[in-house]
Amino acid sequence: MKKIPLSKVYNSKEIKDSVLKVLDSGNFILGPESDSFEKELAGFVGVKRFVLSNSWTSAVHLLLKGMNLKEEGEILLPSLTAFPSVEPICHVGLKPVFVDIDETYCMDPDDLEKKITPKSIGILPVHLYGQPANMTRIMEIAKKHSLFVIEDCAQAVGAKYNGNRVGSMGLAAGFSFYPSKNLTVYGDGGGIATSDDALADRVISLRNHGRQSKFFNDEMGFNMRFNEIQAAVGRCQLKVIDELNRNRGKHAAKYTELLKGIVKTPKTREGVEHVFHMYVIEVDDRDKMKEFLKEKGIGTGIHYPVPVHKQPAVTGLIGEISLPATETAVKKILSLPMYPALEKENIEYVVNSIKEFLGC
Ligand SMILES: Cc1ncc(COP(=O)(O)O)c(C=O)c1O
Repeated sequence: MKKIPLSKVYNSKEIKDSVLKVLDSGNFILGPESDSFEKELAGFVGVKRFVLSNSWTSAVHLLLKGMNLKEEGEILLPSLTAFPSVEPICHVGLKPVFVDIDETYCMDPDDLEKKITPKSIGILPVHLYGQPANMTRIMEIAKKHSLFVIEDCAQAVGAKYNGNRVGSMGLAAGFSFYPSKNLTVYGDGGGIATSDDALADRVISLRNHGRQSKFFNDEMGFNMRFNEIQAAVGRCQLKVIDELNRNRGKHAAKYTELLKGIVKTPKTREGVEHVFHMYVIEVDDRDKMKEFLKEKGIGTGIHYPVPVHKQPAVTGLIGEISLPATETAVKKILSLPMYPALEKENIEYVVNSIKEFLGC
């Protein structure tokens, strides 16, 4: 029987060689590979600075901590996202306010504007599944209400919005290099992008025990550093990320062509370069179809079955709220296999299996 996974990590001889080179170098944490990776990432995103950390979650925690925000301030974010999107907000004493989604599964700007209160201080749009959120409207709303914007780029490295890379439009942005992500470092990893030098310097200090020099600590910090082996892996992947993302785009176009009129396929916003971290369809009988595809050897996912505003860790903080578009989508969404090396015949096999399930 065929075995088609939901995602597959990219590998190459150059990556393997680069790891061995680091082993011989004697540098393991925040050394020359990490420095170069940070500079290359900043250039790629189109910002002045990139600061690596051991995950998106850590990096955004350091960022919010470094901003010294007044507790109780409200941050607006979508609920259809990975749970970690909300964690740093809560850990620094801020309050999450959840916003419903538009037809692209990203934050709905109309609902965003309705949810703004005198306590609002910032917006965290998520470029979900690799598609940039409606940044024109989001940035207009942010400006009108004097709110900062932190982009969640965990799923969208390399994506563009009107020619700008995601991560270059807000005050700062968080990235993830977790193994399933478009750019991976074979373990946990992430970082923040910003053109605010003071903010980048704060994050650098906090990620390494509030240390200014080896034996001088200015403030209480954390150990949320990055390591050299993973930086070497990341640098090799960054060289080919646009090509890997283009392959994802081609596979998505093939799925869309073959699934036309059969199931609901993803809507791409005008003016964006979507990097298809996930290819998500909608079907009424989702759970049964998922089971059927599993029996055919096809890995699928649900991103996400329980939206963040319905998670037990969150309901205690915000009480019961209703986000109708999000709550409808989570019952129907299904992520199909998607990775750069996905073969055309496997896409056809997935589509034929979907047709078989639906009897068409
Ligand atoms: C949208 C989104 N935000 C944040 C995260 C958290 O990333 P990390 O696992 O690097 O902390 C993820 C990863 O699952 C994600 O998909």
